[in-house]
Amino acid sequence: MIEASSLSKRYGETQALAGINLSVPAGTVLGVLGPNGAGKSTAVRILTTLARPDSGSARVAGFDVATQAGDVRRRIGVTAQDATLDEALTGRQNLRMTAALSGLRRRDADARATELLERFELAHAADRVLKGYSGGMRRRLDLAASLVARPAVLFLDEPTTGLDPASRARMWEIVRDLVATGTTVLLTTQYLEEADALADHIVVIDHGRIAARGTARELKDMVGGHRLEVTLSAAHPDAAAALAPLLDGRVDTEGDGRRLRAAVRAGSGVATEVIRALDAVGARVDDLVVHAPSLDDVFFALTGTAAAPPTGRADRPDRPDLPAQPGHADHPDHPRRCARPEPAGDAMGVA
Ligand SMILES: Nc1ncnc2c1ncn2[C@@H]1O[C@H](COP(=O)(O)OP(=O)(O)OP(=O)(O)O)[C@@H](O)[C@H]1O
Ligand SMILES: [Mg+2]
Repeated sequence: MIEASSLSKRYGETQALAGINLSVPAGTVLGVLGPNGAGKSTAVRILTTLARPDSGSARVAGFDVATQAGDVRRRIGVTAQDATLDEALTGRQNLRMTAALSGLRRRDADARATELLERFELAHAADRVLKGYSGGMRRRLDLAASLVARPAVLFLDEPTTGLDPASRARMWEIVRDLVATGTTVLLTTQYLEEADALADHIVVIDHGRIAARGTARELKDMVGGHRLEVTLSAAHPDAAAALAPLLDGRVDTEGDGRRLRAAVRAGSGVATEVIRALDAVGARVDDLVVHAPSLDDVFFALTGTAAAPPTGRADRPDRPDLPAQPGHADHPDHPRRCARPEPAGDAMGVA
């Protein structure tokens, strides 16, 4: 339902998008993850016909976003990052207006507005002007407005930013219901658990490029093994050495030497092997946890955001003595960002 090929867009000196490919099958959710300024909204604007790419092409619901914009617009709904509603109108009036703009007849528009206000738990505020709405209420009305015309493809640009946990959960439910009835969704988010919860496939964008793509599972596996945390009954001098064959990297020992943490090679029975290895050297285990890396681990590993401040010379004019380090900020293709480098021109591999 969404196909994008080599999309690029420059704003002055900023290369907002530097050639991205996307492919979203019907009835699935693509999660677009990336730090501030990565190019997420730019991609959404191009795919929803609100901006033109400098190069590359895209089709949405079978129509070309550049040459068949009208056909695309009739089949999509958009919840932009910034609210696009009229502050001076009531919730009901906003939905009626959107319905009228979508070509619905008056009676259908009224019925649809009432239905959506109820579904989004806004019926009680339907006839109040938006000025008095809370942020969460506006966000819900925004989403309701994007659904007025029952779009086949829905674009949600950070739909739950600023929502409280209950409102976020409600929004997730709504998105799941829409997908269950065949809607295709492209959703951008900063919330990794949101992509984890909703997206069939995820692309991580950084500096206008796709740094990685896959299912949440595949992205987590890309970052490496599971995390192991062991608490021993008492510190044991041979415990770390006993674990070494099972680990990726070194063991961190904490506190009184009873707590050990390490990256462990994922695999069936890994916890059993850990217990056996420790038992063999006579170390007794009080507690043991093996857990998968989170999408947070993936995000930081791929984009370097917050995980590692840039140290290259170009970024440290105060320290010209520092050599420009490979694997850091300046180069968009550096290996740290691209755990699985994107082959040029591939479409999203769907497992
Ligand atoms: N209309 C514009 N004029 C100038 N620069 C722009 C414009 N729109 C986007 N940019 C720049 O392009 C880059 C990508 O912006 P974009 O809004 O796509 O990022 P984003 O991933 O949506 O970020 P955020 O998470 O903050 O919403 C940024 O550097 C931004 O400053
Ligand atoms: Mg944005």
